[in-house]
Amino acid sequence: MTESSINKKPVQMIDLKAQYLPIKEEIKTALKDIIESGQFILGQNVSSFESEVANYHNVSGAVSLASGTDALHLSLDALGIKEGDEVITTPFTFIASAEAITYVGAKPVFADIDEHTLNIDPSKIEEKITDKTRAIVVVHLFGLPADMTAIMAIAKKHDLKIIEDSAQAFGAKYKGKAIGSIGDAGCFSFYPSKNLGAYGDGGMMISGDPKISERVKLLRNHGTVGPYQHDFIGYNSRLDEIQAAILRIKMRQIDVYNEKRRAIAEIYTSILQGVVRCPATSDDSTHVYHQYTIRTPHRDKIKEELGNLSISSVVYYPRPLHLQGAFGDIGHSKGDFPVSELAASEVLSLPIYPELEHETAREIGNAVLEILKSI
Ligand SMILES: Cc1ncc(COP(=O)(O)O)c(C=O)c1O
Repeated sequence: MTESSINKKPVQMIDLKAQYLPIKEEIKTALKDIIESGQFILGQNVSSFESEVANYHNVSGAVSLASGTDALHLSLDALGIKEGDEVITTPFTFIASAEAITYVGAKPVFADIDEHTLNIDPSKIEEKITDKTRAIVVVHLFGLPADMTAIMAIAKKHDLKIIEDSAQAFGAKYKGKAIGSIGDAGCFSFYPSKNLGAYGDGGMMISGDPKISERVKLLRNHGTVGPYQHDFIGYNSRLDEIQAAILRIKMRQIDVYNEKRRAIAEIYTSILQGVVRCPATSDDSTHVYHQYTIRTPHRDKIKEELGNLSISSVVYYPRPLHLQGAFGDIGHSKGDFPVSELAASEVLSLPIYPELEHETAREIGNAVLEILKSI
């Protein structure tokens, strides 16, 4: 390792304080106003935030929820997915994408991913369709939109519902359309490290179908159709006013945040292209780089050496869902989804967040290069 590649201060995957500092005063004022108003649940910030998210995505309905996992769960419920149904999804994702399918009693059916995009491979979907298949949970992994043209065509042909797990892709676009607005329901997570992150848990479901939005709205609040009138069993899954106010402040800058992520991604790609596999891009999509994920057989060595330089890196995800104990009863074994399994052994996500200094990104990229040279 040369002197020049040695980083001076530790680099984390994300620096939430760096994003907070420029909006500190606005946040403080919003928190004070809410605390003084005494209105903490289902108030004006929640309804304004929902309108703003609906407008941003050009859809009729947006319903804020307690988490992205709840957004998936309540969307599946509102779309009528139930016990005995099958729902196709990717095995290379965060567990919530498939976990939510089990919450409504349905069975997750995995289809392998495309080796370039790491998103579900449309050509592997049709062979998984049976007379029990009702829906597809499409994940826009790491902020890169999945191949929605092909997926929507399959859904139309087989009369399947599409739930877009857009937890990692707030602000991404596919052929000019906002991600989350293409399928029957779009689900977002506001987990603090997400591109649009709260200061706690939060989520949102968007839909162009008012019936779906209305149903999710009732489900999130105990099936309440009138004062203490409950026509069906629901849940407590409300986003609170404090989180909504914070998210409204941050959302004003989401396109700027995402643009800054893209600029950092370009730096990494300019240094690492041809040496490791860099994230796929396409003229059809706007990537929002929730993660900048490289692929190389030397992943473990790079991670270890970066760690020695106090540079964080994380393996998202080391074990595909079909090999997780949680889905053991489905009966899969190693080799069933080879593309996902190979990806899981080669991926490594590098630090990326809007405030990451370009010079630091260059140092990280060059450090990866030098580690590879030394192997
Ligand atoms: C792809 C994906 N789906 C769903 C979720 C669940 O979101 P939450 O943590 O807000 O429940 C996450 C993130 O945590 C995610 O990355």
